[in-house]
Amino acid sequence: MRIFSGVQPTGRKHLGNYIGAFVPHVASQDRGESIYCIVDLHATTVAYDPARLRSDVYDLQAVWMAAGLDPERCVLFRQSDVIEHSELQWLLNSVTAYGELSRMTQFKDKSGQQDFISAGIFNYPILMAADILLYRTDEVPVGDDQRQHVELSRDVAQRFNSRFGETFVVPEVVIRDVGARIMDLQTPERKMSTTGGTPAGTVYVTDDPAAILKKFRSAVTDSGREIRHSPEKAGISNLLEILAVVRGASIGELEREFEGAGYGDFKLAVGEAVVDYLTPVRERFATLRADEAGLEATLRRGAEKARAIAVETMAGVRAAMGVGPVR
Ligand code: TYM
Repeated sequence: MRIFSGVQPTGRKHLGNYIGAFVPHVASQDRGESIYCIVDLHATTVAYDPARLRSDVYDLQAVWMAAGLDPERCVLFRQSDVIEHSELQWLLNSVTAYGELSRMTQFKDKSGQQDFISAGIFNYPILMAADILLYRTDEVPVGDDQRQHVELSRDVAQRFNSRFGETFVVPEVVIRDVGARIMDLQTPERKMSTTGGTPAGTVYVTDDPAAILKKFRSAVTDSGREIRHSPEKAGISNLLEILAVVRGASIGELEREFEGAGYGDFKLAVGEAVVDYLTPVRERFATLRADEAGLEATLRRGAEKARAIAVETMAGVRAAMGVGPVR
């Protein structure tokens, strides 16, 4: 059983990334061979600063490891260190339809925010399919916003296999019931996001306790008084999901615990639980981030392990597609 997921080294990582992705990634290390990729090539599709990108890679690596990724138990590497991602992406361009890419909701959202809409941002999901298919991945744990992309990679794998012969494993998307879509605390109808959210509604993993408490205290709720998970109660439902993951409790248990409590007390309780949860993470992050040489050495070791699998897959892909000499 092989598990793969990727995260972009852009911006500071927020509670949505943490709960929607890092928590399932850490848990997956006990379920199978886990491969995690810092996707720096994806980050070049929008305007960015090259020097900053290099340092953002280490930031993400340190925060991911602080959350519990253990390079002894998983493969953790930087996408650009394994050149086969780019090669496979090019080859998969030819089995992906223009129409499929045009329907990607993230392309529509992201391209709307850019002055320069690169071809890279349009082709982004093909690079993501290459990431996943290169490792003959069984499962892809992601947050809900990546569902459509993983489904595209399934379609691409199936199309490739039927046209060129069985080459790829068709991956399953794994999305948790609770916490797969953490919402902005100020606009709970929108997902928490560094680019599309509000500063006051986005909780960063490395925020200090005072900042975290302030954001939770001012979280937007509704005009009712019941602490209940329901589609009409976006703010309260979001807070319940956050607390459920952070405390390891079920939504039902929390609804019973907070029955009759006021919204103010509830928001404070969630904020305090998040502070307790993230404080050790922030401390581990600072220690890990201070040793850049150690981080780099870990990435290199990870890339070697990843490349061994990638090279083997590419030999099959080249043979199936009739590219390169007969071996
Ligand atoms: P990225 O870097 O935007 O997000 C990383 C992970 O965080 C999840 N996530 C959320 N989960 C819950 N609530 C939120 N508000 C929230 N915001 C983000 C995302 O779903 C994701 O799991 N294209 C991907 C990176 C990627 C990848 C891959 C993922 C590249 N190749 C191959 C899986 C497999 C991305 O931009 O994620």
